[in-house]
Formats: sequence, C-alpha cells, structure tokens
Amino acid sequence: MLNYAPLRVRVTTPRIELAGATDDLLGELQHVVWEGKATADPAPYDDPMSLYEADPDVRVRKWLQGVWRGRGSVTSDFWRVHFVVLVDGRAVGMQDLIGDQFGTYGTVASFSWLSSDMRRQGVGTEMRQAILHFAFEGVGATEATTEAFLDNSGSNGVSRSVGYEENGVGWATRRGEPGLMQRWRLTRQDWMRRRRDDIDLHGMAECRESLGLS
Ligand SMILES: CC(C)(COP(=O)(O)OP(=O)(O)OC[C@H]1O[C@@H](n2cnc3c(N)ncnc32)[C@H](O)[C@@H]1OP(=O)(O)O)[C@@H](O)C(=O)NCCC(=O)NCCS
Repeated sequence: MLNYAPLRVRVTTPRIELAGATDDLLGELQHVVWEGKATADPAPYDDPMSLYEADPDVRVRKWLQGVWRGRGSVTSDFWRVHFVVLVDGRAVGMQDLIGDQFGTYGTVASFSWLSSDMRRQGVGTEMRQAILHFAFEGVGATEATTEAFLDNSGSNGVSRSVGYEENGVGWATRRGEPGLMQRWRLTRQDWMRRRRDDIDLHGMAECRESLGLS
C-alpha cells in the first residue's frame, strides 16, 4: 500500500470499519455507484453532485475524480479525508470528514452515503459515531456540523440520534431545484457526554501530520 497517511488511517468499531479510501477500496465500491445505489429519493445531495449523473460510466468517473481531487488538494487550512465503509469486510459506502479553516475554527463537517440495500439497520449511525471519534479524539475538533434537506429522514435521523442540536436552516439546490436544508451542530462538550469507549483509531499520528496538524 502507498505510504500516504490519509490512505492508511482506519477507524474500527465492533460493527464496522472506516478505511482510508485507497484505489483498491474505491474499486470494490464502484459497482454500488454504477448500480445507482449511492443516492436516494427524494434527492439527498446539494449541487453539484457526481452521484446524480444518469449515465453509470460517467457517474463512476466523476465520483472517482471527486475523491482524487479531495486527496490532491489537502492543505492545513482545507482538507477532506475520504473513508470507505466496510461491513464484514465488504465495501458498502463512504464517510468523509472535511476541515475548512480548521486551524481558525476547529470545526469539521461530515458527509456520507450508504448502499441503498444496507440502510435502516443502524449502519449510518455507526458510521457517524466512528467519524465523530476520528474528529474529536483523533483530530481534536471543537465542533462538528452537518446538514441535510428537510425531507432527508435518514441523514436527519442519524444527526438527531447521535446528539446534534438543530442549528437553523439554509437554502440550496438539488438537481437545480431549491430546497431547505436543516443544519446541525455537535459541540465537543456534547460529544464527550456520549463518547464511546469501543471505537479505535489506527495510524492517527501520521494522518494528523499529513493534514498539517501538530
Ligand atoms: C444517511 C444514511 C447514511 C443513513 O444511514 P442508515 O443506516 O439508513 O441510518 P440508520 O439505520 O442508522 O438510522 C438512523 C435513524 O434515522 C432513522 N431513519 C433512517 N432512515 C429513515 C427513513 N428513510 N425514514 C425515516 N427514518 C429513517 C432511523 O429510524 C434511525 O432513527 P432512530 O435512531 O431514532 O432509530 C443513508 O440513509 C443514506 O445513505 N442516504 C442516502 C445518502 C444521504 O442522504 N447522505 C447524506 C447526505 S446529506
């Protein structure tokens, strides 16, 4: 495996693993994107979004290019760490963490999707708790945010269930149509009250260094 820390980092829980999104893992996951199982109805993502592409080959190509762009544009001020979600060793989704002006604010945002045949079994909640552990314990974040369209019951259900507080709404477009997004916020203090002791981080020191975090 390449000696590039964000590709070697892992977060493990009793149910799932988040593994740095190597090309091998993206290769295992691409059939889910090709088959159209990475999106949902109503449309869950704000524009622009590769996963909305109608042609499956174009969809996979643009999705991969998006991950590679994220990998290639890491600075200490803006980074995005992409993880592939593994359940029983099988690639079933993605979970990302984004730090924007992290040095100034200490805030992170998360983004995720899960293969449609794996939903409603608590895996989305487990993924979010795993990435929050990475964010607060591993990276030292002070606050985590996320947002989802008001009718995205899955994403809003996860945010509510892991303890985020509602933090207003804002407009965005999806497939060109305007819609309101619910914003969510989880402070470090609130996370501390619910933090789990059965989640482990692997390769964290090297990952922190490569994100420009001391
Ligand atoms: C968001 C997503 C990852 C959630 O994963 P999941 O495994 O289905 O979520 P969970 O099973 O952990 O459910 C979490 C909570 O939401 C509720 N929920 C999940 N899907 C729901 C739905 N379709 N309708 C109503 N409630 C739902 C669950 O009942 C659960 O609530 P509880 O904790 O009170 O029991 C998944 O729905 C998904 O991939 N959606 C499409 C992509 C997406 O929306 N990404 C986020 C973009 S902002």
